[in-house]
Amino acid sequence: MATERTLSIIKPDAVAKNAIGEIIARFEKAGLNVVAAKMVHLSEEKAGGFYAEHKERPFFKDLVGFMTSGPVVVQVLEGEGAIAKNRDLMGATNPKDAAAGTIRADFAETIDANAVHGSDSAESAKREISYFFGNDEICPR
Ligand code: PPS
Repeated sequence: MATERTLSIIKPDAVAKNAIGEIIARFEKAGLNVVAAKMVHLSEEKAGGFYAEHKERPFFKDLVGFMTSGPVVVQVLEGEGAIAKNRDLMGATNPKDAAAGTIRADFAETIDANAVHGSDSAESAKREISYFFGNDEICPR
C-alpha cells in the first residue's frame, strides 16, 4: 500500500475535553506519523471556506458555528493507506453509528459535535492539506 498524507482536525468538543493527547496517541499507535500540526481558533471565513462544498446543506451554519466555537488542532498524518486508516480510526460520522473503540464512539456524543474530521479521498486530502499548511510547514520523516 502506498504512503499517503491526510488532513485530520481534532474539533472543538474534543479539545475542550482535553482529549488531544489520547486522539493523537491512537494515530501514532496505528502507524500514522504526525508530520505537521497546529492549534488554531478558526474564523467564520476560514471554517466556511473549508466546508464550502457543504454550503447548501441544512446544517452548514451550525457546522461553521461549531467549528468556530473554540480552538481546533489541525494535523497532517502520513503513513501507509493514511486516508482510509484515519477514517477507520475515526468511526462513522454519527457517533451513534460508530463502531466500538473508534474515536467518535469514545469521544463524541452527537453528529454535530463529532470530535474529529478526516479527509475522505486523495483529492480532498491534497486540497485540505494545502488549505492549512504550506510545504515548508510539513516535516516528512
Ligand atoms: S459527506 O461528505 O456527505 O459524506 O459527509 P456528511 O456526512 O454529509 O458530513 C459532512 C460534514 O458535515 C458534518 N455534519 C453535520 N454537522 C452538523 N450537523 C449535522 N446534522 C451534520 N451532519 C453532518 C459532518 O460531521 C461532516 O464534517 P467533517 O468535519 O467532514 O466530519
